[in-house]
Amino acid sequence: RVFIPFYTGEVVTAVFGDQASYERLHRTVLIMGLLSLASTVFGGLRGGSFTYAHATIDRQIRNDLFRSVVKQEIGFFDMNKTGEICSRLSADCQTMSNTLSLYMNVLTRNLTMLFGSLIFMFTLSWKLSMITLINIPIIFLVNKIFGVWYDMLSEETQNSVAKANDVAEEVLSSIRTVKSFACENYESSRFMTFLNVTLKIATRKVFVVIGLIWSNELLQMGILTIVLWYGGHLVIDNKVESGLLVSFLLYQFQLGENLRELGEVWNGLMQAVGASRKVFEFIDRPPRVENTGTYAPDAMTGKIEFRHVAFSYPIRPDLPIMEDLTFTVEPGEVVALVGPSGGGKSSCIAMLEHFYEPTSGEVLIDGVPVREYDHKYLHTKVALVGQEPVLYARSVSENIGYGLDKYDDDMVQKSAKLANAHTFIMNDTTDGYNTNVGEKGSQMSGKEKRR
Ligand SMILES: Nc1ncnc2c1ncn2[C@@H]1O[C@H](COP(=O)(O)OP(=O)(O)OP(=O)(O)O)[C@@H](O)[C@H]1O
Ligand SMILES: [Mg+2]
Repeated sequence: RVFIPFYTGEVVTAVFGDQASYERLHRTVLIMGLLSLASTVFGGLRGGSFTYAHATIDRQIRNDLFRSVVKQEIGFFDMNKTGEICSRLSADCQTMSNTLSLYMNVLTRNLTMLFGSLIFMFTLSWKLSMITLINIPIIFLVNKIFGVWYDMLSEETQNSVAKANDVAEEVLSSIRTVKSFACENYESSRFMTFLNVTLKIATRKVFVVIGLIWSNELLQMGILTIVLWYGGHLVIDNKVESGLLVSFLLYQFQLGENLRELGEVWNGLMQAVGASRKVFEFIDRPPRVENTGTYAPDAMTGKIEFRHVAFSYPIRPDLPIMEDLTFTVEPGEVVALVGPSGGGKSSCIAMLEHFYEPTSGEVLIDGVPVREYDHKYLHTKVALVGQEPVLYARSVSENIGYGLDKYDDDMVQKSAKLANAHTFIMNDTTDGYNTNVGEKGSQMSGKEKRR
């Protein structure tokens, strides 16, 4: 496409100039036709490649982020709300991959065109080129200033969108509670409050956009006027051919267009930088509680020991939950932890599951700290039935087999029978073991879920 303005000028010269001839016209038109064809073919291929690149980049970023997030320790999820993380996973990843592919495409095309146009312009007339060139640094400076501003606002936007998402996530995942308190309107207005914050940031963005368009347009129109005036003089004085001026003007438009698009790319890239900051922060974050233990003995007797354990939650480090806690549970012993609400009973269990590390002291099973056990092995040995167990929106069998690499129907049924669940699964559900239990197991009773 870089050659097309040049040959357009040539066609004009072939028609209007002193050496106008059919032969010259045919030759230049043929070259232009071939160039246009090639530009079309490669343009399509370029679009296709970038679409594919977009899909692969998108998959890669989301995969990296999700993998890193699920590996984080429970404390991470105390600090970061689910909705916010989901927003990183959807909106921010989308922005990043869109930008990387779409803008890389536009960027490479525009840079090539920009340099191509400049080379042609200088070859055509260095005097006219100089007029144009003086303006380029000014245009870049203006775009840079607005770009930095835009970047700041973009990061603010992504954050406020993430907060709004978090509200939506929380409400939708606890819709029963919302309804039982008749809080539909309250939650809607709360969501609206967050949307309004985003709108406010967007209003500030409006000024950046207006400023950017005004200054760019003014600069471009300014040079166009000067080039037309000076170029016109050169043609009238017979210093250059009229075809050359046509070519030059076409390059001039082209260059303006390229600079405008480059400005947009710049803003887009800034937006991606804003979005990617948080995404990479999550991707690069090493979990504070590592599950790198490898100890997996054939047999476990099940002696549980807490040795001088001190603990506080990472989110509230100065609120001690336990101080110098020592006790032993012998294998086969049934032990009840009794204490006031908020006394730290559930926290003991959380540490036994290696959700948190004690601040000091040790939590041991069979004399080995839980941290040294293989992650998967530990969780086949330590089982917990919560008051509100979580089921997944999958079949009954998949829920029973969750966490096992391999299992069959016999194993599932056997464990269901042991848990006294077989009868109700067979009698009270529509599809037996294939029944979908609904989101978070909402289509099961509390006791059924626990069994
Ligand atoms: N994820 C968390 N992040 C920060 N603090 C927490 C967290 N979970 C519990 N706490 C705090 O730790 C303390 C102990 O909580 P824990 O859940 O262990 O109490 P509990 O003894 O199980 O109480 P209950 O009998 O009510 O179940 C409480 O003050 C609670 O506010
Ligand atoms: Mg508890």
